[in-house]
Amino acid sequence: METTGKTTKRTKKSVEIVETKAVLPKKCESTDPVIAPKRKILFAASEARPFIATGGLADVIGSLPQTLAKDPKYDIRVVLPLYSDIKPEFRRKMSFLGNIFVPLSWRNQYCGIFTCEQDGVTFYFIDNEYYFKRKGCYGYYDDGERFAFFSRSVMEILPFINFYPDVLHCHDWQTALAAIYLKTIYCKRPEYQFIRALFTIHNIEYQGKYSLDILEDLFGISNDEGYLLEYNGCLNLMKGAIECCERFSTVSPTYAKEIMTEEYAHGLQDIIRKNEFKLTGILNGIDVDMYNCATDKALFANYTADNFEGKAICKTELQKMLSLPVKDVPVIAMISRLVAHKGLDLVKAIAEDMLHEDVQFVLLGTGDAAYENYFRELGVKYEGKVSANIAFNGDLSKKIYSGADIFLMPSISEPCGLSQMIASRYATVPVVRETGGLHDSIKPFDTGGNGFTFKSRNPYDLLYVVHEALETYKNREVWQALMQKAATTDFSWLRSAEEYKRLYEDTFSVGQ
Ligand code: GLC
Repeated sequence: METTGKTTKRTKKSVEIVETKAVLPKKCESTDPVIAPKRKILFAASEARPFIATGGLADVIGSLPQTLAKDPKYDIRVVLPLYSDIKPEFRRKMSFLGNIFVPLSWRNQYCGIFTCEQDGVTFYFIDNEYYFKRKGCYGYYDDGERFAFFSRSVMEILPFINFYPDVLHCHDWQTALAAIYLKTIYCKRPEYQFIRALFTIHNIEYQGKYSLDILEDLFGISNDEGYLLEYNGCLNLMKGAIECCERFSTVSPTYAKEIMTEEYAHGLQDIIRKNEFKLTGILNGIDVDMYNCATDKALFANYTADNFEGKAICKTELQKMLSLPVKDVPVIAMISRLVAHKGLDLVKAIAEDMLHEDVQFVLLGTGDAAYENYFRELGVKYEGKVSANIAFNGDLSKKIYSGADIFLMPSISEPCGLSQMIASRYATVPVVRETGGLHDSIKPFDTGGNGFTFKSRNPYDLLYVVHEALETYKNREVWQALMQKAATTDFSWLRSAEEYKRLYEDTFSVGQ
């Protein structure tokens, strides 16, 4: 490129204008790559690590954007609610950009906008104390209104932050309305007309269902467009997002197939099948720096896939900590929310059979009272063999992931699942039911895989593979190789991030 220009040269007496000729190659000879505009992606979600986390969604929103942002071709930003539970250490890093007022039917609500940078990603936080100055993230009578406000704010802040994304990437029912608002209200405005929506289902069980009468009064959507959200006699936000978005996805290829069936879809199978042409399944990754047995400070000792000496220390110290006899028997662990779809009825049905073997069983989790009580009683009955920890404890979970030998995860349904990947990375061999992301991430040992799997909902099939694992454990060399296989399986985001990039391109191209 040839440029000429004028610069000023200061002399003592006067300011002299000097003609300059930049020493740049002529235009036709240019070898400079054309600098293409970055692909702009805006994530809208209700939680993200490290700011606020209640489940697996926070892990995804806390690591996928960061991985994508490493690609200079992408400009990745994330919008979250500013919950009062976000710790002061993070609040101190935020700066206040300003405020706007967000329309929500007849309401006009204050919306403060804060921002901070986290691992190359710009985060925005929507502030409204009436909606978000509460304990935790969810579980309030007005969650529908709270997340309608949040979703509407996501759309309203775009002119303020001067960022019109190519793809608006919404996650779960809490941000479903953002995709619906885009289609029903905003796409008519010129600045919004090229934005395309991608909606990701992390768990189809939670759809955001509300009574029909709040459509106009609360969500601010006209009755003429109510058909988009209506389903089985109520408003269904997830259904609305699936209808309105250009593309939708879920968190594993197997779950993408499962949610087309009545068995897994919680009533949405017909909608999913109708929109099948828009659906993709992409397996989540995990943050491999955060879950790294070579560096994790929560472990009693660190180790690598080449040397498991540290893991033996982790096991001994875990046994001591949980008052289990220190001996070399297989330690079977479960870290889970104690709810039915985690397959706890299968575990209950075979627990005593399993405990007839020379094993130890460690459980960590909270949930339904009936399961909590069952495991407490099991701990009393099999004292010295079972350690039931009815708690939610991040530090202890790392000690269990690293100190155990076998990790049980026989979920009835599991969109992706994180624990089987963490256990595997810590060389604790997973035993899983072949569903959702468990099926896509853990392959059977007898076919050269990284764990043990079974398919049916028959508890004795679970018992069968537990026995298979216990038998394999006896052969030290074989077990060692299996641990290595598990610990070196690639669960990083890199592979999945490439798939998301393809999906963003595909989403953006619709109707352009
Ligand atoms: C939900 C799913 C879980 C998945 C997570 C992140 O919590 O239940 O399987 O790993 O979302 O996508």
